[in-house]
Amino acid sequence: MTSSAFPAARMPVAVIGAGAIGRMHLERMLAHPDIAPAAVADPGEGVRAYAERIGVPWFADYRDMLERTPLGAAIVATPNHTHADVGLACIARKLPVLMEKPVTDTVAQGRTLCDAAEAAGVPLMVGHQRRHNPILRSARQLIADGAVGKPVSVTAMATWLKPDTYFEPLWRRQAGGGPVLINLIHDIDLLRFLIGEIESVQAMTSNAVRGYEVEDTAGVLMRFACGAVAVLAVSDATVAPWNWDLAAGEAAHYAQLDVNSHHISGTEGSLTLPRLEVWRYAGRSGWHEPLTQTRTPVHRADPYVEQMRHLRAVAEGRETPVCSGLDGLRTLEAALAVHEAARLQRTVVL
Ligand SMILES: NC(=O)c1ccc[n+]([C@@H]2O[C@H](COP(=O)([O-])OP(=O)(O)OC[C@H]3O[C@@H](n4cnc5c(N)ncnc54)[C@H](O)[C@@H]3O)[C@@H](O)[C@H]2O)c1
Repeated sequence: MTSSAFPAARMPVAVIGAGAIGRMHLERMLAHPDIAPAAVADPGEGVRAYAERIGVPWFADYRDMLERTPLGAAIVATPNHTHADVGLACIARKLPVLMEKPVTDTVAQGRTLCDAAEAAGVPLMVGHQRRHNPILRSARQLIADGAVGKPVSVTAMATWLKPDTYFEPLWRRQAGGGPVLINLIHDIDLLRFLIGEIESVQAMTSNAVRGYEVEDTAGVLMRFACGAVAVLAVSDATVAPWNWDLAAGEAAHYAQLDVNSHHISGTEGSLTLPRLEVWRYAGRSGWHEPLTQTRTPVHRADPYVEQMRHLRAVAEGRETPVCSGLDGLRTLEAALAVHEAARLQRTVVL
C-alpha cells in the first residue's frame, strides 16, 4: 500500500526491531503528529508484552507483518548484519524505509540495498539523526556563510562510558558492534555534512579496557577532499563528557552538559560544536592579535522527532532525503575504512 492512501491522518509506520533505539522511535511515534506506530515486528524476549503495553500490534516475523499490515513506511532498527535483508524485503513491497545506521554492515550490501531502492523507485533514508538537529543545521549554515573561511583543521571527540549491561547482547561484543560503527559513524556523517567528502583515513584501534573482540577505543585521522584534516578520538570505555550526545543533549535521556565536542578551524575563523562559538579576529590577523568570540543562539529540538516528520514527507514525495541511502553508504565506507586502516596499519584511500 502506498503512502498516498494516508494524506491527512497520521501515516501508519512499522518498527522492525524493538530494542534500545526501536523503542525510542516507538515512544516518539506514540505522540507524533505526522506518523503513528502501526505494528512492531521483533521475535525478541519481552517484545510482545512491550507492544501490548503500548497498544501496538506485534508480529514475531517482519515478513508476516509486511504481508498483513497496511503501511506508509517502515523504520528498521534491527542489528546491523540484518539491515540488508530486512531493507530488501521492505523495498520489494515498495515501502519507504528509514534504515537505522549503519545502512548495512558491508559496502557491498549497502550498494545492493541502494540499487534495489533506486530500481524500485522507493525512498531509502538512513538514520543519521544529527542532520535533523537545529544545532548542526546552524553550524552548516555558518560554514556556508564563511564563518571559518576554508575549513582546514578539525578535532572531534566521542568519549563516554557504556555500562556493562550494554554488552549483554553478543553482537555488541563482536566485530562491527563497537563504537566505530555504532557511534563514531555519526561523527563521520556529521563531518561529511559540514565539510564534504572524505578522501583518506588512518587509524589505530584498541580493546585494551574490556578485551572483547570489538574495539573500545580508536584514534583516527581523516583527510577531506577540500584538503582539511580531522583528528578524531573515540572511546566508550572512558569517564568523559566530550561527545555530541551529551554536549548537544541529543535526546531527553542524555544529561546535557555545557561542553564542546567538535572544533572546526579555518582560514578565517573557528567554530565549536555544539555551543556554536565562532572565534575570529576583529581587526588585524595574527597569533599576537586578540580573538573575539560570538555565540549563535539556537533553539533546541529533538532530532528524532524531526526525522519522523521528514520520513513522512519523503514517503509522500514532498521532500528528498536529508540522509539518503547513498549518503549513508559513503559514511559507512569511511567508517569501515577506520577498521581497515587500523588492521593494515596504513592509509586507506576512499
Ligand atoms: N541512530 C542512533 O543514534 C542509533 C542508536 C542506537 C542504535 N542504532 C542502530 O539501531 C540498530 C539497533 O540497535 P539497538 O541498540 O537498538 O540494538 P538492540 O540489540 O537493543 O535491539 C535490536 C532488536 O532487534 C531485534 N531483532 C533482531 N533480529 C531481528 C529480525 N530479524 N526481525 C525483527 N527484529 C529483530 C532484537 O530482538 C532486538 O530487540 C543498530 O543498527 C544500531 O546501529 C542507532
